[in-house]
Amino acid sequence: MSHEPHDHETEQLPSQGRYSPRAAELVKIFDDRVEDVYRQVREQPFWKTLMDAKTSNETCLKIFREVFLSIYWYQRQTTEAGFHMIGRLPGSEETMLKLLMLHKIEEAGHNGWAFRDYQLLGGSVEYADKIPMSPACFAIAGVWWRMAIAESPFGYIGAEYLFEYLTMRVAQDLVPVFKQRGFKAEGLKFIIDHATEDEKHAKLVRHLISDSVTRYPESEAAMLRCFDYFRQVYPLPVWTEAYERATGITPQWDGDLPWSGLGKPTK
Ligand SMILES: [Fe+2]
Repeated sequence: MSHEPHDHETEQLPSQGRYSPRAAELVKIFDDRVEDVYRQVREQPFWKTLMDAKTSNETCLKIFREVFLSIYWYQRQTTEAGFHMIGRLPGSEETMLKLLMLHKIEEAGHNGWAFRDYQLLGGSVEYADKIPMSPACFAIAGVWWRMAIAESPFGYIGAEYLFEYLTMRVAQDLVPVFKQRGFKAEGLKFIIDHATEDEKHAKLVRHLISDSVTRYPESEAAMLRCFDYFRQVYPLPVWTEAYERATGITPQWDGDLPWSGLGKPTK
């Protein structure tokens, strides 16, 4: 946690880093929740498969390819819903709006990173656009749109922390695995770049949580609630689905996916 008085983001925020005592406590609550999610992640078959030295490089890369496809499917929706949600903040919150918008603009480009890596790992553009998004991706889109329409816009900050801090934690643990397995950066740059990118983003969101709870103590409940809403659909269902597509538990990526409505493959 970083509450230095001269942090760049801190100085820009209306509270200028003079956070209420509750701020540090709340950040700790969020950090503990993310750690709990990550503990659950490490218990899942997709994680155990990735970490198992007996798993082939090919299978590992297929799992990442399918995760990138999922990101391609859901992230356009979470970005659009996120902008909608931020747009409902009080108009007087100029600085917070600017920081959140700039951050979200950076995130918007990451969809392209995921799609680039999906293709570098052998994914088909035609397929990605032809198949409707998977059920777990649809659930993510559904939660984000409901939050965007019906929740306090301050809740956005809590949900976003799950994206940012968890991605940082996971990416930083995966990079050494890539080295051990001798993977090239090509096709995995989404993850490699997020190990550093999301360190900055997680820090920014921590400041926004702190600023928000200092000036709007009632926003705490909305931030925690939206974190929990999002946690119900991310990441376990969507990463499990990607793993099941990659390993053939669900029919293979070029096969008859149950929700596709495309019928049996003709080849
Ligand atoms: Fe990020």
